[in-house]
Amino acid sequence: MKSSELRQKFLQFFEKNGHAVIPSTSLIPDEVGLDQKTLFITAGMQPMVPYLMGKKHPEGKRIVDIQKCFRTVDIDEVGDDTHHTFFEMMGNWSLGDYWKKESIGWSFEFLTKELNIPLEKLAVSCFAGDENAPKDEESARIWESLGIPKERIAFLPKEDNWWGPVGAFGPCGPDTEIFYWKANDIPVTKGFDPQNKNWVEIWNNVFMEYVKDSNGNYVLAEQKNVDTGMGFERTLAILNGYTNNYGTDLFASIISKINENSNSDDEAGKRIIADHIRATVFMIADGIEPLNTGRGYLLRRLLRRVAYYCNSIELKNIFLSDLAEVVISIYDDVYALNESKKLILETIEKEVSLFNKTLEAGKKKCEEGEDPFILSTTYGFPIELTREIAKENGRTIDMQDFEQKMKQHQELSRTASAGMFKGGLADHEPATVKLHTAHHLLLSALQEVFGKEVKQRGSNINQERLRIDFSFDRKLTDEEKSHIEIMVNEKIQQGLDVVKREMPLEEAEKLGAEMEFGVKYGNMVSVYFIEDKKGNVVSKEFCGGPHVTNTSELGHFKILKEEASSQGVRRIKAILE
Ligand code: ALA
Repeated sequence: MKSSELRQKFLQFFEKNGHAVIPSTSLIPDEVGLDQKTLFITAGMQPMVPYLMGKKHPEGKRIVDIQKCFRTVDIDEVGDDTHHTFFEMMGNWSLGDYWKKESIGWSFEFLTKELNIPLEKLAVSCFAGDENAPKDEESARIWESLGIPKERIAFLPKEDNWWGPVGAFGPCGPDTEIFYWKANDIPVTKGFDPQNKNWVEIWNNVFMEYVKDSNGNYVLAEQKNVDTGMGFERTLAILNGYTNNYGTDLFASIISKINENSNSDDEAGKRIIADHIRATVFMIADGIEPLNTGRGYLLRRLLRRVAYYCNSIELKNIFLSDLAEVVISIYDDVYALNESKKLILETIEKEVSLFNKTLEAGKKKCEEGEDPFILSTTYGFPIELTREIAKENGRTIDMQDFEQKMKQHQELSRTASAGMFKGGLADHEPATVKLHTAHHLLLSALQEVFGKEVKQRGSNINQERLRIDFSFDRKLTDEEKSHIEIMVNEKIQQGLDVVKREMPLEEAEKLGAEMEFGVKYGNMVSVYFIEDKKGNVVSKEFCGGPHVTNTSELGHFKILKEEASSQGVRRIKAILE
């Protein structure tokens, strides 16, 4: 089966059953909203989070799509049969609409009728139950009624049959997973052993009945949703009887282009090139450029890995951009990649030539025995490359030492950013912590009244009062002061959640998080968001914390004094009573 056929079948089937077909979003999560927890969209449901949390979807309560996703957690597995960095996920959703019977029924019908998978090749797992949620007997009964025999239904614990939330909190719930027997025969044993590698998971139907809150509790959701996900590449491969995803039409022409230009038998290396070049094409098309931090860093890392593997399999006569062109032609029908073709090819060529330049200098350092950690952080040398060069020189790399140093490096930048909080909270007394949150609300009120150009210029908080210095060129009137007090008190009364999110500096800057002028931040920063239940952001500031978890804890806010601090800078002192 061709990829275009599977795409069409999936979308049409759910459209026929009342679902609105929506296009994939960009790989980059929305700037504002609850899905802003990861650098990339990592699952089909992520752009749906605001709607899973109760916001009304403009297309209705039944949605179907095929979503672009990107994950780095599996990067070391890439090269095997099934793991990818970039992949697509087919998904259908019920936003407070249908429930288990319809969801399971349609999945079953789609697999057995549309894709003609024999019943004997299917098995399922359901949630076994624990202290947070009961055993999912209902799903099992539905499967049985459709013809799945009891012995092909396994009940598994939370590690296997629970999905979400993405990040620390949000919608989640028990799931039922569908497995396919990938060997060419019909399984001889009647039962179902999920550990048997021939059983591959193909579809996951999550019954999002719960929300994990910021205290780690599972509470029943106001709106019950269904979230499903089916890996596009994997499904396409098994439908064709392939043991790996690289035989499908999503990869075959990339792999053959590589084979035409290399005599190497390093299959894993070739697969890594194919996977990474595909991912980088999509990243660049979605507006990411190679940089030293955040998403840009991941793009850079992938491109350098590709460049390295191209050398290692001695790919001759073609450029990386030639492989990128193959990717563009495979997907152009679906994602109109031709529109960004020029940008994609130029970005790749530029980055590879930049890398080749540092390659010589780095190679020399490497041959001289420079620390792999320094090579990585200063010369951008992927560890694979350092290892390879060391091997050629008859040396081995102490991987443990390298990983230890990288970890320390990451922790240091994290601590640095935490410590860089403007002014920093010296004490963690509850009164000080409350004033700290009030400080954020005050800054956002000042900006709402006088405009975003009002910036913080200094601050100081103790147990008695807060003090903020901010750029503004005149005295505040009594009306303005009382207006600001009212605004802050309203936000306190609304009981808004205060949420901390860690992210690369660049990411936070892009989000427009408030930062203090003249302060230098680390690579990883934490940003405190104050937001309402719908995810509307009232305040977002670079900050090391700590803060209260909800503004309702603050009490009554009062401005004590407003005065000049220096030329063009005013100072407010305020208390909570
Ligand atoms: N969100 C579920 C998954 O990614 C469907 O598996």
